[in-house]
Amino acid sequence: MVAAGTAKIEKSARQYRADFPILGQMMNGRKLAFLDTAASAQKPKIVIDSMSSVYSTGYANIHRGVYRISQELTTAFEEVRQKVADFIGAPGARNIVFTRNSTEAINLVAQSWGRTHLQKGDEVILSAMEHHANIVPWQLLQAQIGIEIKVIPVLDDGTLDYEAYQSLLSPRTKMVGVVHISNAFGVRNNISKIIKLSRDFNPKIKVLIDGSQGVVHSPVNVIALDADFYVFTGHKLYGPTGIGALYGKYEALESMPPYQGGGDMIERVSFSGSTFREPPHRFEAGTPPIAEVIGLGAAIDYVREIGFDFIQKREENLLAYGNKKLKEISGLKVFGDVSDKAGIFSFTIENMHPSDIGMVLDQCGVAVRAGHHCCMPLLERFGLDATVRASLGLYSNEEDIDALVEGLHKARELFQ
Ligand SMILES: Cc1ncc(COP(=O)(O)O)c(C=O)c1O
Repeated sequence: MVAAGTAKIEKSARQYRADFPILGQMMNGRKLAFLDTAASAQKPKIVIDSMSSVYSTGYANIHRGVYRISQELTTAFEEVRQKVADFIGAPGARNIVFTRNSTEAINLVAQSWGRTHLQKGDEVILSAMEHHANIVPWQLLQAQIGIEIKVIPVLDDGTLDYEAYQSLLSPRTKMVGVVHISNAFGVRNNISKIIKLSRDFNPKIKVLIDGSQGVVHSPVNVIALDADFYVFTGHKLYGPTGIGALYGKYEALESMPPYQGGGDMIERVSFSGSTFREPPHRFEAGTPPIAEVIGLGAAIDYVREIGFDFIQKREENLLAYGNKKLKEISGLKVFGDVSDKAGIFSFTIENMHPSDIGMVLDQCGVAVRAGHHCCMPLLERFGLDATVRASLGLYSNEEDIDALVEGLHKARELFQ
């Protein structure tokens, strides 16, 4: 763990940045300033090497092989399940289902838990700041079985309206799905409060937390939170694409039928019927993303070694620096400008479209996202179709923010 003194943090920040080979590159004649980590984080060498090592020295299919490399890789794969459990404070490895990403994890809950436990007229409450990944799976279920979807409004400062949430709860409420940290504005939701309010109203209500950004910016303990389901995706946590995780309380997982069928998830198959393994294996049909799981394990080790003390302190400093610098730009408005937020600046500039700003920034070697960030309902709430989003990772530094602000000045001149 790194102590949180400023000088130490700056030194460590330089060292950590050097762990990411891609950040040494030039882009359009400038040093690459990568400010799109909320979409997908860059990968440290240790993650890249861990996957390359699987393929070059120890690759085989897992779970079924009777020979050494298969068995060793099976052990390494299953160790990552325990690593994920430890990382989010889950009781054990059996609470962790490997999925392709957060999207698949939420679809799994909607289709397996939802189809089993919900009926026509039952209510699912979501927030207005959900990523489409935590909206559309519930809409598919709505079309299939006729559930109602209610929406927790967002206040003008970009935070959730907790009072309105309380008034939405009803005897028909069965599931609540809320994002831990908004990917669009960076606002951190008080998910403990959401869970407590739900429990106080009716302990049987299930709560699913979308932790896609949450695990990247803060330590998580699903037991302390008392979440029923918590999902995240590996590629935002400095790990590979194609791997994510669903945490579920075991009694909830046990009550759920398989989501997909195939090899690896069965006990016995015959044409008169098949039987399935216990969770989590029941939800993992087919050959899993083996090297990706190993890469996720390396990413978790990497993040844990750096520690959230460092990550949070560094991000706080950069947020303060960025907020001050962005004020230099006339007509710039930041959305979700609250104190409890992660390293995400989402903004518009008067008389300029975010896509145009994004293109000018690209010319300056600055990579940002311009668009709806898969949160169309949230942007609509603010009368927007797009914002520019600059998002920080543990490798971000003041120079990246300086490059951003310089690029914005340039865009201002061009579109004056
Ligand atoms: C808050 C949030 N939820 C869900 C997702 C979906 O992640 P994935 O595409 O990896 O499933 C994202 C990705 O942008 C996100 O930021």
